[in-house]
Amino acid sequence: MTKLSLRDRYERIAPFYDLLDAPFEQKRYRALRPLLFEGLHGAILDAGVGTGRNIAYYPDGVRVTGVDQSPAMLARARQRALEARRDVDLRLMDVTRLDFPDDSFDAAVASFLFCVLPADSQVAALRELRRVVRPGGTLRLLEYVRPTGALRNFIARLWAPWMAWAYGAGFDRQTEAHLRELGLEVVESRYVVDDLVKMIVVRL
Ligand SMILES: C[S@@+](CC[C@H](N)C(=O)[O-])C[C@H]1O[C@@H](n2cnc3c(N)ncnc32)[C@H](O)[C@@H]1O
Repeated sequence: MTKLSLRDRYERIAPFYDLLDAPFEQKRYRALRPLLFEGLHGAILDAGVGTGRNIAYYPDGVRVTGVDQSPAMLARARQRALEARRDVDLRLMDVTRLDFPDDSFDAAVASFLFCVLPADSQVAALRELRRVVRPGGTLRLLEYVRPTGALRNFIARLWAPWMAWAYGAGFDRQTEAHLRELGLEVVESRYVVDDLVKMIVVRL
């Protein structure tokens, strides 16, 4: 059986993505998304923009560019931007090969992208984000991690096969280790949902 690429996985799930995610969006994500944008201004990159779930939380006055490698996810983000009457520059692009000049953005955010990106793409993606955000700019990540508590870890193990099949996601990505490898300055790393979801803030 051929292994589905990450892009094909999102092409497959795009029509159902918002529906499947709705309970999590209501209970969990909508309280977290504003944290990604608090105090940001200027030009912002939303990496792995998906169906545009962050759009409702973009601060007034910022210029946002969203990139995603799945045309079907991007199409839904376009629809969402239209409905919200937000002018968002949405582009089909791989975060490991960004088609922007150096220092194009003041900040980059990514929600639930690095828990999806395979291990061998993590460093390339972080390098690209560092390249396109100006020195002194900010990178904010919202990501699932492997829970340390026994019960949540057990539940995460039950969920893992579905997460991997549907979203290509996992709880074992080593994003913080990659940030350290690249010598990037992590100014904040804290759990925002139990010991399951982390907010990571990096100064570039
Ligand atoms: C779990 S979804 C999260 C979407 C959105 N950020 C959110 O918070 O709802 C991950 C998204 O990352 C995108 N993605 C995965 N790998 C990517 C890559 N290499 N370049 C750009 N986008 C990618 C997927 O297509 C998908 O839309």
